[in-house]
Amino acid sequence: MLLDLAHWLVQPAPVAARRLGYVGESVRLASRSRRCRAAWAPHLAAAKDAVRAAIEGLDRHDTAVVLGAGLLDDVPIDTLATAFRRVVLVDAVHPWRGRWRARHHRNVERLTHDLSGTQDLLLGRGDALGPALPDICREADLVVSANLLSQLPILPVARLEAAGRLGPWTDADAFGHGIVAAHLDALAGLPARICLVTDRDETEEARDGRAIARIDLLYGVDPGPAPRAWDWVLAPFGEAARDRRLVHRVSAWPDWRPA
Ligand SMILES: C[S@@+](CC[C@H](N)C(=O)[O-])C[C@H]1O[C@@H](n2cnc3c(N)ncnc32)[C@H](O)[C@@H]1O
Repeated sequence: MLLDLAHWLVQPAPVAARRLGYVGESVRLASRSRRCRAAWAPHLAAAKDAVRAAIEGLDRHDTAVVLGAGLLDDVPIDTLATAFRRVVLVDAVHPWRGRWRARHHRNVERLTHDLSGTQDLLLGRGDALGPALPDICREADLVVSANLLSQLPILPVARLEAAGRLGPWTDADAFGHGIVAAHLDALAGLPARICLVTDRDETEEARDGRAIARIDLLYGVDPGPAPRAWDWVLAPFGEAARDRRLVHRVSAWPDWRPA
C-alpha cells in the first residue's frame, strides 16, 4: 500500500491523468502484474505473439503506433523498434516500467493522450466526446490496440455513476457502449493494419469450476469472430478472494477488420 503510494507520487503524468484516476489505475495494474506474474505469463506471451504476427507481410515498416502501451507488459517493444523506423507509444500514463523497457530504442516516442475521448467531459470542459485517436494514427502502417478496449470505459463510467449525469449522458451502459464503439469505429477508419487485442468478458469462478458471475466488458459491442482467443487468469485464487478467481476471455486479431 505504502509502496503503491510512493509509485503514485513519482509517476510522471499530467495533472489531468492524476485527477481522473489514470495514475492510480496504472499503479494498481503494475502491482497486480507483479503479484500475478506466473498466472499472467501465458496471456502476455499470447498477446505479444499476436503483435508479432501483425508485423508479418506488411509492405511498409515506417511507423507503428501502440495504443494503451502502459507498462509494455504485453507489447514486444524490441521487435517493434527493430521492425519500424518509428514507434509511437500512446497512453494516458507512461509509467516508469514502460519507459525502462523502451530505454535502448532511440526511435521510440511517447505520446500522452486520452483515448476514450471523454477527458474534457469528465473535467467539465464541454459536452461532446473528443476524438478517440491521435492524428499520428493516420500516418501509421501498423496500429496496435493493446489490451485497451475494455479499459476505456472503466473510469468514465464510474464517474457517470457517481455523478448521475455527465453532459448529455445519464445512462452508464449506453455511455460505456458509446466509448467502446467509438474506439472500434475510429480504428476501422484508419488506412493502417490494425492489431486488436482485448479481453471481452470476465467470469468469476469457484474452486469447483462453477461460474458464479459473468460480465460483458465491452458493453454489448461485438468486434466480430477472432482468429485467436485464450483465457487470462486476471486474479488467481487468493488475489481478489480466497475461493474465487477472475478469468478474462481474450480475443486477438493480428489484422482486424470490422465485421
Ligand atoms: C490493461 S492496460 C494494457 C496493458 C498494457 N499494454 C501493458 O502492457 O501494460 C490498459 C492501459 O490502457 C491505458 N488506458 C486506459 N484508459 C485510457 C485512456 N482513456 N486513454 C489512454 N490510455 C488509457 C492504461 O493507462 C493502461 O496502460
